[in-house]
Amino acid sequence: MKNLIEDIGVIGVEGEATEPMKVSQEQNTGKSRKLYIESYGCQMNFSDSEIVAAILGKAGFDTTSDPSQADLIFLNTCSIREKAEQTVRHRLHHIQSYKKKKPEMMIGILGCMAERLKTKLLEEEKIVDLVAGPDAYRDLPNLIDQVDDGDKAVNTFLSREETYADITPVRLGSNGVTAFISIMRGCDNMCSFCVVPFTRGRERSRDPHSIVAEATDLFHKGFREVTLLGQNVDSYKWSEEENNKARLEKNGINQVVNFANLLELVAQVHPDLRIRFSTSHPKDITDEVLKVMARYENICKYIHLPVQSGNTRILELMNRGYSREWYLNKVERIRTILGNECGISSDMITGFCSETEEEHLETLSLMDLVQYDYAYMFAYSERPGTLASKKFPDDIPAEVKTRRLEEIINKQREHSYLRHLQDVGTVQRVLIEGPSRRSEEHWQGRTSANRVTVFPKGNKNKGEYVNVMIERCTSGTLIGKIVE
Ligand code: SAH
Ligand code: SF4
Ligand code: F3S
Repeated sequence: MKNLIEDIGVIGVEGEATEPMKVSQEQNTGKSRKLYIESYGCQMNFSDSEIVAAILGKAGFDTTSDPSQADLIFLNTCSIREKAEQTVRHRLHHIQSYKKKKPEMMIGILGCMAERLKTKLLEEEKIVDLVAGPDAYRDLPNLIDQVDDGDKAVNTFLSREETYADITPVRLGSNGVTAFISIMRGCDNMCSFCVVPFTRGRERSRDPHSIVAEATDLFHKGFREVTLLGQNVDSYKWSEEENNKARLEKNGINQVVNFANLLELVAQVHPDLRIRFSTSHPKDITDEVLKVMARYENICKYIHLPVQSGNTRILELMNRGYSREWYLNKVERIRTILGNECGISSDMITGFCSETEEEHLETLSLMDLVQYDYAYMFAYSERPGTLASKKFPDDIPAEVKTRRLEEIINKQREHSYLRHLQDVGTVQRVLIEGPSRRSEEHWQGRTSANRVTVFPKGNKNKGEYVNVMIERCTSGTLIGKIVE
C-alpha cells in the first residue's frame, strides 16, 4: 500500500498544463491514411482534437498512436505562457526525425499557437506544412489537399458562429467513462494577461439541443460523466431563432437558455450521468447556478473558480471584473448554498506587473480564508499583443516570481491535505474510472467534490458507482475501501 501514498499529484504547477496527450487509441477502419495528433494546453484543445479526428475520419484518415506510422502529424498547440510555445517548438524538432525517415509525411500546427503566429509559423519552422486556427477545422480536408498538391496551407480565420455543434467527436484516449463536451467557444473577457481572446476569438454558445443530444448519446454508449467546457461557462447564453419556435416548444427548451438552464437540461439526461463543468468566472457565477447544483445530486459539487490574485489593485490591473471582497463573498455563497463539502479550486498567477510583496501576501491570506482543494499556479509570463504587454512593464524579476510561486504552492499543498483530511472517516460516492496508476489491484475514481480516490477493486467494474469508506489520505489522494 505504501506506494499508493504518492499515487497522483493533483497540485498543478507551472508547466503541467502543457503536458501533451497523445492519441492512445488506434482506429483501424481500413482508411487509406493515418493521423497522429498530440494536444497541448487546456481541455478545450483536447476536446477540439476529437472534433479534428471526426472531420478527418470523414476525409479518409484513421488515427494511430505511433507517430512514425503516421501520414499526417498534428500538434494542437497552446500559447498561454511562453513555456507552452517552447514545448511545441522542441517537439517539432523531435518530429523532424520521423519526417526524415518518411519524407512524404505532412506536419500541421493547430490551435492557439497557429492562430497567434499564423504564416509566421511557416517561416520560423520550416518543417511545418499546414497551419489551422481553432475555427478553421472544417477546412482541414481542403488544406490537406493543398499540401498534397505541393503547397503550404494556412487558415486562421476566426468565426463568430462556428461551434462545431453538428460534429460527433471521435473520443481519443478515452477511458469510456468520462468525456468532455464543448458548450461554447472563444472568450470576450479580455483579462489583461491573457492571450485566449486573441487566439480563440469572440465568445459564442452552442445550441443546447446538440449538447443534450451529445450527452444522451454518451450515456447510451456507457459514459457516466460529462464535463461541460468553456472559458467562462457562466456567460453561456443561447436563444432560439424566431423560425425555430415550433421545435423549441416541442423540446420544451426555454427561449433563452442560460448556464443554469443548460446545467439542468443535461442533469435530466439520466440520474446516473454525472455532470461537471469548467471554467467558472467569479464575476459571472450566479446563485441560480448554485441552486441548480444543489437540486441535482448528479451535478458534482465542485467548482473551479480561478481567483488569479488576492489583491484588489492587481485584480483591477488584470481586468478581472471583481475585487477581493466580491470573490470572498462568492465563496461564502457557495459554502452557504452547497455546504463546506463542495470542492473549490483556483488558478493563481504570481509576479504580475508591479505586484508588491504586500499584495503577494494578500494572495496567501486569501488562500487561508478559502482553503482551496486544488490550485493551478503559475508565474506570470508576458504574452505579445495582450493588454498587459502594451500597458504595464513585466517588472517582477524571475527569481521573485519563482519564490512567490513556491510560497503559494507550499501553502496549497497544506490546504489540499487539510481538505482531504476532512473526508477521512466519511463514506463517499465514487465513479470508477479505471485502474489506479500505481496498482492493478486498485480502482481509481473521483468523489463528487473531484477528489481522486483509490481503493481495492473488489468485484466492481469500471463505470460503476461505489460507496467508499475513506480511511486515510495524502494531499493528492483519498485512500479507502468499498462498503455496501
Ligand atoms: N478561462 C479561464 C482560464 C483560462 S487560462 C479563466 O478565466 O479563469 C488558464 C489559466 O492560465 C488562467 O486562469 C491563468 O491563471 C493562467 N494564465 C493565463 N495567462 C497567463 C499568463 N500570461 N501568465 C501566466 N499564467 C497565465
Ligand atoms: Fe483568459 Fe480571462 Fe477569458 Fe479566462 S476569462 S480565457 S483568463 S480572458
Ligand atoms: Fe492554451 Fe489556447 Fe487553451 S492558449 S490554455 S490551448 S485556449
